[in-house]
Parts: sequence; C-alpha cells; structure tokens
Amino acid sequence: MKILVLNGPNLGRLDLRDSKIYGEMTFPQLSSYIADCATELGFQAEVRQSDSEVQLISWLHEAADGKIPVIFNPAAFTHYSYAIRDAAAMLTAPLIEVHLSNPLAREEFRHTSVISGVANGTIGGFGPNSYRLALIAMKELI
Ligand code: DQA
Repeated sequence: MKILVLNGPNLGRLDLRDSKIYGEMTFPQLSSYIADCATELGFQAEVRQSDSEVQLISWLHEAADGKIPVIFNPAAFTHYSYAIRDAAAMLTAPLIEVHLSNPLAREEFRHTSVISGVANGTIGGFGPNSYRLALIAMKELI
C-alpha cells in the first residue's frame, strides 16, 4: 500500500535546527528511518519535503486524486495555512498530522493547528518516533 509522508518548511534543514527540540537526525536520516518503518509495516512510503505552500498543496491534490493515505508534518504551516487546510480537507483517504516536538508544550502561537480539524488524528512530541506511531495508527485505519 502506497503512502505519502509529507513534510513542510524548514524540516529539510533539521541539522541546523535546535537539536534539543528536534533531535539529532538530519532530514535524510529521518527520511530513511520513516521509509524503513513503513516497509516493516507493509507500506511503500514516499517521503517528501518542501518549503513551498504551493508544492505541498499540489502533493495533497495528488494524494486526493490517487486516494493515497497521507502522514503530514506541515511544520509552521500547521499554525496558519488555511490553504493547506482546505487542500487537506479534500483528501479521500486518511490523514494523520505529525510533529517531532509537542507544539502544545511550546510557544502559544504553536498551540493552534488549523490542520487537526481535518485530520483523523495528531501525533506529536515523540521525535522521529511520532512518524512510526503515525504509520502504526494508519495501518489500523485502513
Ligand atoms: C513542527 C512544529 C512546528 O511548530 C514547527 O514550526 C516546525 C516543526 C514539529 O515537527 O515539531 O517546523 O511541526
């Protein structure tokens, strides 16, 4: 079963972000960790990252057209992108929102997710393991 694992802005530069918040993995390491976890669970994962709202929306459209389940870390777009929320609302297979950190334990502007309301569920705060937990949850859902 194919699955898209989409990642938003600045996640491609994890090596330069605060490792106390985001951990020690670089994005390429995170991608192969996710791909390995997905294979173990019987998924064929495509892990993608973009800093562009336009690109993320077009990947969500692709997922909707192909009825492909999505695991999505929208990064900072989580907190304010209504355009991404509207695209996510059109998905035709389950959507799980993930975060490396726990946004609710951080600055107040991170306490709002405009995506959660159109996702099947949200997993955050477990570092790279958030993605593995999301894959396990996705397996149960589909
Ligand atoms: C994040 C949390 C967001 O608040 C932040 O803007 C990110 C990463 C996370 O994975 O913890 O870029 O989505």
